[in-house]
Amino acid sequence: MTPHAVPVPAASSSFDVKAVRAQFPALQQQVHGKPLAYLDNAATTQKPQVVIDALRHYYERDNANVHRGVHALSERATAAFEASRRTVQQLVNAVSEREIVFTRNATESINLVARAWGDWQLKPGDEVLISAMEHHSNIVPWQMACARTGAILKVAPIDDRGDVIMEEFERLVTTKTKMVAVVHLSNVLGTINPVEEMIALARRVGATVLIDGSQAAYHMAVDVQAMAPDFYVFTGHKIYGPTGIGVLYGRESLLDAMPPFLGGGDMISSVTFEKSEWNGLPYKFEAGTPNIAAAIGLGRAVEFVRDIGFEAIGAHEAALLAYATERLSAVPGLRLVGTARRKASVLSFVMSDLHPHDIGTIVDREGVAIRTGHHCAQPVMDRYSIPATARASLAMYNTTDEIDALVVALDRVRHLLG
Ligand code: ALA
Repeated sequence: MTPHAVPVPAASSSFDVKAVRAQFPALQQQVHGKPLAYLDNAATTQKPQVVIDALRHYYERDNANVHRGVHALSERATAAFEASRRTVQQLVNAVSEREIVFTRNATESINLVARAWGDWQLKPGDEVLISAMEHHSNIVPWQMACARTGAILKVAPIDDRGDVIMEEFERLVTTKTKMVAVVHLSNVLGTINPVEEMIALARRVGATVLIDGSQAAYHMAVDVQAMAPDFYVFTGHKIYGPTGIGVLYGRESLLDAMPPFLGGGDMISSVTFEKSEWNGLPYKFEAGTPNIAAAIGLGRAVEFVRDIGFEAIGAHEAALLAYATERLSAVPGLRLVGTARRKASVLSFVMSDLHPHDIGTIVDREGVAIRTGHHCAQPVMDRYSIPATARASLAMYNTTDEIDALVVALDRVRHLLG
């Protein structure tokens, strides 16, 4: 199929992808002599100039520790750090900034909950329910918590399309279920889970709920008051911010009741050799010097996304996903893995019996960046009896030209290996 046989999504009046792209320096380069088509956004997104400038400004002008000094630089650093927390609070519509804990990444956020909440609440025979499409970061911390506490890990199965089988999910939510921990948007399948329905089922039995929003938070508006999970986690580097900064949203009364995760500076109100007392929220969960620059960069990234708006981003990405789905489906021998009813921005695929690693290497020579492998979700590979997939994942700055470049590169793969 030629590129012109597939309808090209109409440009939205409020969204100018060229203007958006111009703000990302890394997108302006050539790779192996070809214009870069960066389609590995589920792994990490590129950073707009304003985020790079925010990091640079912090280190050039404001570098000091937070919550500790009375001098001007420390006051500026603290003000910028706390302003970022309020920006994140507004992003997810949390009631209070006390509900926003800065961590290193989503993985650390989940480990924090699995330790602090899990070791406190889970008893032998209790059950933790996850889905079969979880990233390792929402499996392993719960396996470890179960090993420590005697709780049992239960897994809700998924169907061939990549949807959670809701009848099975409902059957698995019982009075033994103490935690339901599910991904909002799958990094492998692109499935958008019916998290509101899942939360309602968990509420019927009084279970606590954690939603892993790592992939969702940069594609769609998240409102924790409307969704009402107990915990919602995401990472900074996927929402166009720096690496090394993550977010744990937690319901205030629950965070307040939970014991701390890591001990050390900043998380205490008083220390003697006999006894320590904990700081208030969110600092009780922020031991040690945080990644100040990255938190400030995250705040800037969130402002950048907010200024463009999820309505415009969502419309652009949905049109691009439809275009990419149609074009990739027409590539001979290509099979999409993940065709859920509600899906976003992720196209995993296999091609005949070609190894995804070879596909990734050849398309890279054409300037196209995709990820190949198990995507930190080995049980998903097992579910579909495949060792790995190739994966193109979209962000707000991607274009139909880049999808076309991928399709041309896949033709080259077939020519060389087919
Ligand atoms: N979890 C990230 C991915 O899916 C790293 O690539």
